[in-house]
Amino acid sequence: MTREEAWELLTEYNKEEFHLEHAQIVENTMKYFAQKLGYGEEKEFWGLVGLLHDLDFEQYPEEHCIKSQEIMKERGLEERLIHATASHGYAITVDIEPVHEMEKVLYAVDELTGLIGAVVLMRPSKSVQDLKVKSVKKKFKSKNFAAGCSREVIQRGADMLGWTLDDLIAQTIEALKTFQE
Ligand SMILES: [Fe+2]
Repeated sequence: MTREEAWELLTEYNKEEFHLEHAQIVENTMKYFAQKLGYGEEKEFWGLVGLLHDLDFEQYPEEHCIKSQEIMKERGLEERLIHATASHGYAITVDIEPVHEMEKVLYAVDELTGLIGAVVLMRPSKSVQDLKVKSVKKKFKSKNFAAGCSREVIQRGADMLGWTLDDLIAQTIEALKTFQE
């Protein structure tokens, strides 16, 4: 599957700007981590997983990560793409455990990029460039801030990777800095 084909599929099921933006943020974050963690040759694939991970969310929020498997199977997409995208719903809507390091990264950064994005919006500079880990940690602990970003999922993702929360946040800020203002 090419990036262009993935974008066509994504925009067939997603019309809201917020969702398209989230998809691209996770796509670019995944590509950063592929390179960083020694999977440079699979960078494009990691990007596709990021781009398509929420394929079904806009239209089928109740069947998130379930409906997307059906859609992808119908389109004849490869099994590892289906497994990787669906596994970010582990312990939420599906019982598909993240196995590959790529899947664990997706699990960890999906909600975290949202939280960091919300922190950035609160800043006078509206920039991620000089954002510090401690600013994100503070908002992480403040349960009412961006309450939709599950702290439990972020922490579980860090645990799966065997990284500390601070390290996960630091790495994700570095990822965002490479493509955001
Ligand atoms: Fe997502």
